[in-house]
Amino acid sequence: MAASRGGLSRLSVDQPFRIRQYPLESGALEIQFIEEFFGEFDRKKSAMEIRERLEGREHGIFMVEASLPEEPTRFAPVSYRVAHEIRNEETDPELADLVERLREAVRFSGQRVLYAWLGGTRSDWRGQGHFRALDEFQEEWAIDKGFREIVVKTKNRYYEMRSTLTHLHFDVVKYEPHPIHNGDSKVYLSKRLGGGVRRPRRASLARYLEV
Ligand SMILES: CC(C)(COP(=O)(O)OP(=O)(O)OC[C@H]1O[C@@H](n2cnc3c(N)ncnc32)[C@H](O)[C@@H]1OP(=O)(O)O)[C@@H](O)C(=O)NCCC(=O)NCCS
Repeated sequence: MAASRGGLSRLSVDQPFRIRQYPLESGALEIQFIEEFFGEFDRKKSAMEIRERLEGREHGIFMVEASLPEEPTRFAPVSYRVAHEIRNEETDPELADLVERLREAVRFSGQRVLYAWLGGTRSDWRGQGHFRALDEFQEEWAIDKGFREIVVKTKNRYYEMRSTLTHLHFDVVKYEPHPIHNGDSKVYLSKRLGGGVRRPRRASLARYLEV
């Protein structure tokens, strides 16, 4: 089921939303497209950057696709999450720096750690539970892959994201003050995955997976 041009795909399903895991190539293109709908991001990611980051490491690209009100058989991605493994010894300078900053708060040896790198919901589709559904889906996927902790980084000024991560039970594990603008201070959060046992699936997620 390949996504077509413009991020739209035609599916014959009788539900308004569904979660889909994308392969790297088409997922990277979809994210580049969907990020055009975000005013919040300082710098939007290109498909090439996404491919370079994810290639050769365990990763997941998850999206909520919604049927469009004006044409219900036509589906488009409205919310997404991208996560990848981070390891004790990283060669990529950006990831090596991230691991160093997190080391005092997160254990990297003896457990697999997933980094929730990118994510968001299109502004016109927010507040409907799509990001929660993706978070729960990602958590099940992570547990099945043997991850024991999910970490995420945000900034002080991203109030919506901070509130949402709180609702999704991420704990703040580190705060890095910015020397000039406190809004740019970095906040690191983590969720432990309960010894690798899946929680009972919530109705909020199940409605995305019924076909
Ligand atoms: C943060 C964001 C992803 C939330 O997406 P969403 O699809 O609207 O979220 P959901 O509807 O699934 O809500 C998930 C939970 O967070 C809560 N939540 C969502 N937005 C919230 C807000 N603005 N304030 C307080 N709580 C909020 C919801 O109440 C829900 O909790 P509940 O299930 O316990 O009721 C979306 O607002 C977004 O993309 N924002 C911009 C992204 C951003 O700031 N990125 C910065 C880089 S990190």
